[in-house]
Amino acid sequence: MRPSQLISLLLPCALSLSFPRQDQKVVRWMPLGDSITDYGCWRAWIYLRLQNDPDLYDAVDLVGGEHAGEICDDSEFDRDHEGHPGFPAIQMANEGRVSAWLARNPADVVTMHLGTVDIVRGKPRTEELLKAYTTLVGQMRGANPNMRIVVAQIIPLGLGVEKNEQVKELNRAIPAWAASQNTTASPVWVVDLFTGFEAEVDLYDGIHASPSGIQKIADGFYPTLLTAIKHVQGVGLD
Ligand SMILES: *[C@@H]1O[C@H](CO)[C@@H](O)[C@H](O)[C@H]1NC(C)=O
Repeated sequence: MRPSQLISLLLPCALSLSFPRQDQKVVRWMPLGDSITDYGCWRAWIYLRLQNDPDLYDAVDLVGGEHAGEICDDSEFDRDHEGHPGFPAIQMANEGRVSAWLARNPADVVTMHLGTVDIVRGKPRTEELLKAYTTLVGQMRGANPNMRIVVAQIIPLGLGVEKNEQVKELNRAIPAWAASQNTTASPVWVVDLFTGFEAEVDLYDGIHASPSGIQKIADGFYPTLLTAIKHVQGVGLD
């Protein structure tokens, strides 16, 4: 739910001052992932940036069964998401979680950052992770045949060389995998959150982003998320 919906309820006479464009479909965005998605203010920074664009004001509704508790500069932001701390991608796929979450909270756009927990806890083969990704994409399309899907090449791990090599191997495989999943009805875009993300300063505990890392996640997702949003709105199609 968007905070402004609440404000509109409380202040009916202020309605004419806010301008959700009547001709525009509200785009429902589900941020999906583990604690990287749950933690920090990156969703807030994206939400505020969207709200500050007159063309996008109130155009996007974050959806999901989780609700962040972060303060984020005391800003009002839409806290809904599906970031589940400690959730491995493979388990999420095998348990059909995304089907259930999308049944409860339908979406037009899903951003996905997954695989970190699998790699922190074990040594999954990259192909196993990609198989899970494929299953998750299937669940997204089962819920919405026109789902727009934004897949992140995941942020580094600061837990030693071996773990980060696994992250790199997954990230290297993601573009070809995503291209193989791409369809006109349900496009898949890749966002590189790895390049330019420095584990030493942009992580605070070897796994989760520090404030500088949070900003990089927000900046990294933003342009492609915008492409996906505009694709739903039917503008900027290429
Ligand atoms: C998927 O197709 C869209 C065009 O519909 C394109 O912009 C995008 O880059 C493609 N994604 C991948 C991963 O190739």
